[in-house]
Amino acid sequence: MENNCNGRQENLYETDALVSQYCEFHYGDRYFGVENYPARCARLCCEIMAERNRGAALDLGCAVGRTSFELARDFSSVTGLDFSRRFIAVATRMAEEGKIAYEIPCEGELVGHVERRLADYDLDAVRQRVTFFSGDALSLPPEFSGYDLIFAGNLIDRLKNPRLFLSSIHQRLVSGGLLILTSPYTWLNEFTPRSEWLGGFTEGGRDFTTLEGLRKSLNPHFRMLGTPRDIPFVIRETARKYQHSIAEMTIWERCR
Ligand SMILES: C[S@@+](CC[C@H](N)C(=O)[O-])C[C@H]1O[C@@H](n2cnc3c(N)ncnc32)[C@H](O)[C@@H]1O
Repeated sequence: MENNCNGRQENLYETDALVSQYCEFHYGDRYFGVENYPARCARLCCEIMAERNRGAALDLGCAVGRTSFELARDFSSVTGLDFSRRFIAVATRMAEEGKIAYEIPCEGELVGHVERRLADYDLDAVRQRVTFFSGDALSLPPEFSGYDLIFAGNLIDRLKNPRLFLSSIHQRLVSGGLLILTSPYTWLNEFTPRSEWLGGFTEGGRDFTTLEGLRKSLNPHFRMLGTPRDIPFVIRETARKYQHSIAEMTIWERCR
């Protein structure tokens, strides 16, 4: 959250700057040779799910929707959900019209104008399988259930109460379904009060990592599959300023 000119708190993910950044992050150019992150995450999810039922998938914190469209290459239906109404408006426009237009900051007041089409990524044929909703991952309506896969990309460290999310998300998966998480574990008080961080602090005189926190929170209902893997991503801020981060992907199977 940030304060706007009226002193009211504004959701960062509703701002022009973040809408532009996420449009480019999802549908824009590749920077510094780093593969498109939403597409790579979806491809890994599909590879991991290759021998499993690929009926329904839920993309939580879907932003402007690229991962949802990519998942629809393999899944019969994909639901994308995000708290940001502006992100969902962009994703919905992409689903309905197959194209979006946006501005990207270059330097100072200079901007570039970009149009992107699903057809450019060979995704036009799958858009009927994707539906977007604005909503809160912490209070999902009951009909958001029965998923074979739930993907939450870079979401957990943006939630007010990640433990609440992790302790209840199994209810939305079929038995044996997978929860796939990615996160750079960038804990910030503005999103998650310090008392709710899953890890990234010392406890009892020793370092307590987010991965340990995930195991602790998910342990009753999930078992971890494989080993965590690093996935880099680059978000363009301006023509001369970029964020280069490394998320960790973990895979969790709902116990049968
Ligand atoms: C760091 S962004 C990641 C977006 C996207 N998954 C990606 O990797 O590009 C976090 C996203 O989570 C969304 N978000 C934050 N809190 C949420 C909540 N309680 N329910 C649903 N979405 C939420 C934000 O609006 C934002 O789109």
